Amino acid sequence: MRVLLTGGAGFIGSHIALLLLERGFDVIILDSFVNSSSIVINRIKTFLQNKDLKSKFEYIKGDIRDKNILDNIFIKSIKECKPIDTVIHLAGLKSVSDSLTNPLHYWDVNVRGTLNLLLSMKEYECYSLVFSSSATIYGLSDSVPMSEDHKILPINPYGQTKVAIENMFYDLFNSNIKLWKICSLRYFNPVGAHSSGLIGEDPVGIPNNLFPFLTQVAIGRQKILKVFGDDWDTKDGSGVRDYIHIIDLADGHLASIDYLNSNDSCLEFINLGSGHGYSVFQIIRQFELTTGRKIPFSIQGRRDGDVAKCYADISKAKKLLGWTPKRSLEQICLDGWNWQIKNPNGYC
Ligand SMILES: NC(=O)c1ccc[n+]([C@@H]2O[C@H](COP(=O)([O-])OP(=O)(O)OC[C@H]3O[C@@H](n4cnc5c(N)ncnc54)[C@H](O)[C@@H]3O)[C@@H](O)[C@H]2O)c1
Repeated sequence: MRVLLTGGAGFIGSHIALLLLERGFDVIILDSFVNSSSIVINRIKTFLQNKDLKSKFEYIKGDIRDKNILDNIFIKSIKECKPIDTVIHLAGLKSVSDSLTNPLHYWDVNVRGTLNLLLSMKEYECYSLVFSSSATIYGLSDSVPMSEDHKILPINPYGQTKVAIENMFYDLFNSNIKLWKICSLRYFNPVGAHSSGLIGEDPVGIPNNLFPFLTQVAIGRQKILKVFGDDWDTKDGSGVRDYIHIIDLADGHLASIDYLNSNDSCLEFINLGSGHGYSVFQIIRQFELTTGRKIPFSIQGRRDGDVAKCYADISKAKKLLGWTPKRSLEQICLDGWNWQIKNPNGYC
């Protein structure tokens, strides 16, 4: 089977690529490298050499807003008599704060880019899609655990673009072409790294998220971890979130492909998280315990747009996909730290 993986050089995409290749899929990565490094491609090649799977992988540098590039990928695959069976679509922009400053850019890349992709898929009769949606679409609510039936109330342009894309899926599914098979996966917080330490999370600039910030404090790239609020209505006062090991999240995509392959026309919205809420203090303590590193932190005021608790109800993913996250918080800390010490400055 052949998979087109857009955004495959990014944090999540690179981990999915390794799992797909291990499972024997042919993989074509399409990425503009606007938020990733081409070194990722070399790391994937290193992984392939170690496993002797080299022939199954190719990558194309390009933008999903360029329909010619997309068309050419489908045309070439058909000519090679190896048409693309499924698209895993991750290419897009993901910073909430950036989306508030540049909303049109987010609509352009995320929504127009996805529209382009869907047009090409339809033209070349590839109807199977796994998409990277986000728990952000649930907005400001701390009614936990959050199921897929939770109200959709995005509070920023980034979240709005994900909702707009999901609405496109509704319209496609309800159209008279009863061929579309789509899983829209609503991610919670993917963290950690592949256990090889070859690939991991390497945010551009100062990390926005807790886990990469914490590993950068541990390695000495950031001085001190800021904890936003210790007076939340939680067990220890710090905010509670759902952190899922990146390999468990990536596994959810393979389970989704299996699901799409064994079903006719379908559209499913599915949460992918660990199903557990971990507080910031709990993460710090576990990281210190696992790595032996002390994490200096300072308490700051609450941030606008934060909630006390947010974690997923993952019963739908378990039931529908037969998927269940397997890796512990300790494993997350071990693998995340292994990546950071092997790559203290990220991909450079
Ligand atoms: N990381 C998270 O916490 C999280 C949570 C929920 C949803 N998501 C979604 O998952 C997807 C992947 O996230 P990630 O964390 O791997 O992000 P990432 O930025 O590491 O990966 C996205 C990749 O897409 C590429 N890209 C961006 N615009 C492109 C374009 N126009 N054409 C081609 N490639 C382009 C980037 O270069 C990057 O390699 C995103 O769509 C994001 O919105 C991520």
